[in-house]
Amino acid sequence: MFDVSQLHKLVAEGVWVFRHPGVTVACRPLHFAEAAKAADIEATRFHPSTSVSAFESMISGQNSCCCGVFVNDTLVGCASANITPAADEYPSEAFIDNISLLTEYAGCGLGLLLTAYLLKFCSASPFGSARATLEVRVGNTPAKRIYARFGFTCHGIRKRYYSHPTEDAEIHWLENMQEPAFQDVLLDAVSHALEMFHVKQLQRSGDMQ
Ligand SMILES: CC(C)(COP(=O)(O)OP(=O)(O)OC[C@H]1O[C@@H](n2cnc3c(N)ncnc32)[C@H](O)[C@@H]1OP(=O)(O)O)[C@@H](O)C(=O)NCCC(=O)NCCS
Repeated sequence: MFDVSQLHKLVAEGVWVFRHPGVTVACRPLHFAEAAKAADIEATRFHPSTSVSAFESMISGQNSCCCGVFVNDTLVGCASANITPAADEYPSEAFIDNISLLTEYAGCGLGLLLTAYLLKFCSASPFGSARATLEVRVGNTPAKRIYARFGFTCHGIRKRYYSHPTEDAEIHWLENMQEPAFQDVLLDAVSHALEMFHVKQLQRSGDMQ
C-alpha cells in the first residue's frame, strides 16, 4: 500500500513520487527531450494529435506546463495546460489542453493522479491560476468523472466540435483553485487515485498466481 501519510508533503513538492512494493509511480514536469515520447502517447489516444514541436513549445514555454506520469521510470501518460496570466482584475486561468494515458495503463487511477498533479502545478507559483477550463467529449465518461471530482462543471456545448468520430464537446470550468479547500480536494483525489492503483496491482498479482 502507498504511504498516504506522506501525501501532504508530496503535494507541496514539485515532483511526486509514490513507492509501492515492486512499482514506483511519479509525476513531474517533462523535459524537452521527452516531447517525442509525449507526442507518441497522445497519438495513440487522439486524432488529430499534438505534434512533437507543439509539445516542445509547451515544455519550454513560459506560459504553459507539460507534465507526465511515470511507472518505474517509463512515461505512460502526459498532460498539458496553457496559462493566461492574471491581468488587471482578471485572475490567471489555465486551459487544460490534453490528458492522455497509454491504453494499457488506463483505468487504474493514473489519469486522476496526473490531472491532480497538473492542476496543482497550474495553481501553484509562478502561475497561480484561480480558474481552469477544458473541453471534453460528451461521451467521455472516465474524463468527466475525473473533472467532476475536482469540481469542474459544464457551462456549455460546442456542437460537433470533435471529429473521428464526430461528437459534441462540453465546455467545463473550475473555479476557486486558490481557496484553501481546493488543496483538500487535491489530496482526496490523490488518495483515491493511489487506492485505485493499489487495488489494480492486487488484482494483477492475483491474476498471475
Ligand atoms: C480519460 C483518461 C485520461 C482517464 O484516465 P484513466 O487513468 O483511464 O482514469 P482513472 O483510472 O484515473 O479513472 C478515473 C475515473 O473514471 C472511471 N473510469 C475509468 N475507466 C472507466 C471506463 N472505461 N468507463 C467508465 N468509468 C471509468 C474510474 O472509475 C474513475 O472514476 P471514480 O474517480 O469516480 O472512481 C484516459 O482514459 C485517456 O487517456 N483517455 C484517452 C484520452 C482522453 O480522452 N483524454 C481526456 C480528454 S478531455
